[in-house]
Formats: sequence, C-alpha cells, structure tokens
Amino acid sequence: MDTSEAFPQNVLPPDETKRLMDNAPSKITPAPTLKAIDDVDAGLTAAGYIPNRQIATAVYLAHHLQKPILVEGPAGVGKTELAKSVAAWMNLPLIRMQCYEGLDESKSLYEWKYGKQLLYTQILKDKIGSVISESDNLARALDKLHAFGDIFFSRNFLEPRPLLRALEQPSGAVLLIDEIDKSDQEFEAFLLEILSDYQVSVPEIGSIQAAVAPVVLLTSNSTRDLGDALKRRCLHLHIGFPDEKLEARIISSRVPGIDERLLRQLVTFVQQLRTLDLKKLPSVSETIDWAKVMVLLHTSVLDVTVVRDTLNVLLKFEADIEAAGKQLAAMTHKAQQAAGIA
Ligand SMILES: Nc1ncnc2c1ncn2[C@@H]1O[C@H](COP(=O)(O)OP(=O)(O)OP(=O)(O)O)[C@@H](O)[C@H]1O
Ligand SMILES: [Mg+2]
Repeated sequence: MDTSEAFPQNVLPPDETKRLMDNAPSKITPAPTLKAIDDVDAGLTAAGYIPNRQIATAVYLAHHLQKPILVEGPAGVGKTELAKSVAAWMNLPLIRMQCYEGLDESKSLYEWKYGKQLLYTQILKDKIGSVISESDNLARALDKLHAFGDIFFSRNFLEPRPLLRALEQPSGAVLLIDEIDKSDQEFEAFLLEILSDYQVSVPEIGSIQAAVAPVVLLTSNSTRDLGDALKRRCLHLHIGFPDEKLEARIISSRVPGIDERLLRQLVTFVQQLRTLDLKKLPSVSETIDWAKVMVLLHTSVLDVTVVRDTLNVLLKFEADIEAAGKQLAAMTHKAQQAAGIA
C-alpha cells in the first residue's frame, strides 16, 4: 500500500506507527492514541493555545514516537506556554525544571535526605549499638553496619527532583525542561540517558524506569549551540513570530471580547513594526500586553498619539522607539486602512 498519500493527511499509517512503537523503549505504556493532527489542534485551542500546523504536527509526532520536542525560537513566542497547554489539555501534571548554569544531578534528579538519615541514626543509635555489640568480631560488626547502610540508602530516604518526579508519575506527566541552553554541556550529556530510555540509575537502588513515558518539551533561546547528541534524540520545532492571521487568533484567545476592528489595527501595526531593523522585535507577549493596554484605555482607533504614548509596551529599547517613531504616521494609517477605518 502506498502510504505516502495518507501521511500528510494528518494520520500516521497504522503499520508505520506500529513499526515506530516497536522501537520505543520497552515496559513503557503508551499514552492514549491521538488519531489526527487536528485532535492536537483542537485540544490545544481548547486550552487557550493557538498552534500553527508545525506545532500541532510536532506534538502529534512526539506523542506517537515518544520523543522529546526541542522548541527553539525568540523570546515570547509561546515556547514555555506550549508545554503548559499540553499539560492542561492532556490533564497531566506539569513538572517544570528551570535550567541555569551549575544545575546538576542533585538539583534535577534526586538527593538523599541527609537530615532524615541523621535523625533516624540518632534515634536508632542505641539499637544499632546493641546489635553491633552482639558481634563477636570486627568483620561481623562491619557486615551488620553495611546492612544498616542499605536501609538508610533506600527509596524512603530519597528526595526526588523534577526529572525523577516526572518518571514516577503513575499516569504520566508533561516534563518541561525550560531554557536548556542556560545549563552546562555536562548537564546536557547527563540528560541523554533519561531522554532516550526514560530511565535513571541510582547506584544504591538500581535503575528506575518510567511506568508511563512523560511528554517531554525542552525549550531554548539559542544562547548557545546545543550538542548533536541531544538534538538527535529530539524532534526539532522552531516557533517564529506568527503571521497576521494566527496572531489575531492568539490575541482573541488571550484578550477575549476585544473589538474586531481594534484587533485588526493592532496586529497590522505590530506586523509592520517587525519589518523594521530593530534591536529587539516585539513578540507575541508584547502584542498581548499592548492589546490589554488598548482595551484598558478604551481605544477604538489607533492614532499616532496613542501609539506614541504606549510604544514602550511593544519596544524595550529607547533606540528602537526612536527608530520606529519616524514611521509611526505611515504605519498607523496602514493599520487603520486594514480595519476599514481610514
Ligand atoms: N500560540 C499561542 N497561543 C496562545 N498564547 C500564546 C501563544 N504564543 C504565545 N502566547 C502567549 O505569549 C506569552 C509568552 O509566551 P511564553 O512565556 O511561552 O514565551 P517563551 O517563548 O517561553 O518566551 P521566553 O523565551 O522569554 O521564555 C504567554 O502569555 C502566552 O500565553
Ligand atoms: Mg519561556
């Protein structure tokens, strides 16, 4: 059967799905089946996140291939929000790990509860002493001491950090590894085992495998290049600035009830602003803020005065505000035209 026709129609061919799933890590229960990319689109939209086709496709494929998604793109385009919305839509707990320089295993995977270990050894001091004193030689006393060591390095004394917590969720979870580019390369290397097998090894306990593979999203602002090994294990998704139509849908979702003509003007204006040579282009988050400001000010027509007074909501550098200032009249006029006002 020629499946090349069927694949772009949103549905992964069943035999292809099976082949891919067979290669997936063993002992992992796959999450409930999504039949089409449109299901992702509808689910995320219902959760308030308006995805484009690439985003919905990436989430659909990640679900079926049980692969993490590496989301890259400029600030404020909805990378972190995507993970939150996937969790809300799939009704799964969101476990977020914010990356930073110096993040290591003890902060991300697990730590021993030293305080509890100390407290318990204090409480059991006499008991331990009397058991050991019954030994007739040093070797036997040491054996007994080792046995106590095993008790104190058991699951009860382990404090799970985000990565382990995500693997241990009985019904699965969405694991957000946010801003991975801020962590060190060593940490990236350490993540590889977890991301390929959904399992971790704790030397004193053994390996712990996820009962249900978490949905993993990593985000990056590309402040440094990520390693090839990490990229290979992930589906890559670039989120750029949305086109006019998508941005209007996003604003409608985030600022419900906004007047249709005001929305059209705002979006047309911001899209023009993004064609200028600026230090920092306004992102979706800025358009949302600007829309809220306009609603607050009861603005219905964008004129040069109101735009100039509020430009600092969109642009974060004085040099950019000055550069855009020269074009305000033309851009405002075009925005009004788009909304059928001028
Ligand atoms: N497609 C979208 N649908 C709905 N809301 C969106 C969408 N894209 C962005 N947003 C909104 O834009 C804002 C910024 O999103 P978010 O914090 O996810 O950005 P980010 O890409 O993670 O930025 P940073 O790189 O600075 O962390 C949020 O309030 C989010 O709700
Ligand atoms: Mg973010």
